[in-house]
Amino acid sequence: MTTTVLVAGATGDLGGRIVRELLQHDTRVRVLTRPSTETPSTAHRRFADEDRVDVVTAAYTDAPALVAALAGVDVVVSAVSGTRAVIVDAQRALLTAAVEAGVPRFIPSDYAADYRSISPGSNRNFELRREFAATLDAAPIRATSVLNGAFTDMLTGQAPLILFDRQRVLYWSSADQVLDFTTKDDVARVTALVALDADAPRVVEVAGDRVTARSIADTMSRLTGKRFRLQWAGTTGTLSAMAGVGRRLSKQGDAEPFPAWQGMQYFVSMFSGEAELHHVNDDRYGPHEWTSVRDVLATHLGV
Ligand SMILES: NC(=O)c1ccc[n+]([C@@H]2O[C@H](COP(=O)([O-])OP(=O)(O)OC[C@H]3O[C@@H](n4cnc5c(N)ncnc54)[C@H](OP(=O)(O)O)[C@@H]3O)[C@@H](O)[C@H]2O)c1
Repeated sequence: MTTTVLVAGATGDLGGRIVRELLQHDTRVRVLTRPSTETPSTAHRRFADEDRVDVVTAAYTDAPALVAALAGVDVVVSAVSGTRAVIVDAQRALLTAAVEAGVPRFIPSDYAADYRSISPGSNRNFELRREFAATLDAAPIRATSVLNGAFTDMLTGQAPLILFDRQRVLYWSSADQVLDFTTKDDVARVTALVALDADAPRVVEVAGDRVTARSIADTMSRLTGKRFRLQWAGTTGTLSAMAGVGRRLSKQGDAEPFPAWQGMQYFVSMFSGEAELHHVNDDRYGPHEWTSVRDVLATHLGV
């Protein structure tokens, strides 16, 4: 039977990949996008050639429009991105409407490391997810979170762990702390499979690769033929304190999703081990060739 999946945030990076994966299966995809001043909107342009995609427009403040958009949907996949106004407020509005429309299942926009037991005050974005998860758990709907560690793709840009020019790999506290990574494409594939899996548990943990700063340095040395050394950058405690200072001095306040201090908080969560995945099940949906950290670095280096 065809599954009707509503994807919120489908015009985004991960959301677009999730739609592409969903279309590999027997699905009808309803893309939810916010009202736009452009005609046609980004969503209409992006999915114009897809017969099995319908674009619906609704503001997250417009409850009746959200409920109408959700009529007949089997599962909501949220891939929205932002801070409190999005992760807590917009997703709560989407959840409330989904319950009212009788939607059986909801996948929140988590796609993160394990935020469930991190220390309070240590990672703003993770705590917003934890706050929304509490609302989700109290709602009469079946929920599944996809936890995947960090996006591997970020190792070549946004996450400055590897200093490519200086042949160094940074670490905080321990070079042997396990770090979970999954590529955006692998996360999108799993999310689509979770969306189609009516028996999916509350959390599905996957890790395309599990590495350490030490093993990354080793991989870089092998790939480049040059020695990449480990560079101790301090403890996770000092990094956490620096992130706190950065947050207080930040001019954007708390509106920006990924300011530099938030990047530091991600490293604190990863290198402290607090957000490490402990129940990875990469085989839940059968055999798959996960893209490794080495694969991503080799492509980046062109070797
Ligand atoms: N684990 C990791 O390392 C990692 C890294 C990056 C991202 N992520 C997570 O992956 C998820 C998707 O991220 P992404 O980078 O793909 O997102 P993105 O490309 O920045 O955007 C996602 C979509 O969110 C919607 N959106 C933006 N602002 C909004 C608002 N104020 N209210 C409601 N919707 C809004 C937009 O859709 P419309 O305009 O169509 O409404 C947008 O296309 C997020 O949960 C993000 O935190 C994880």
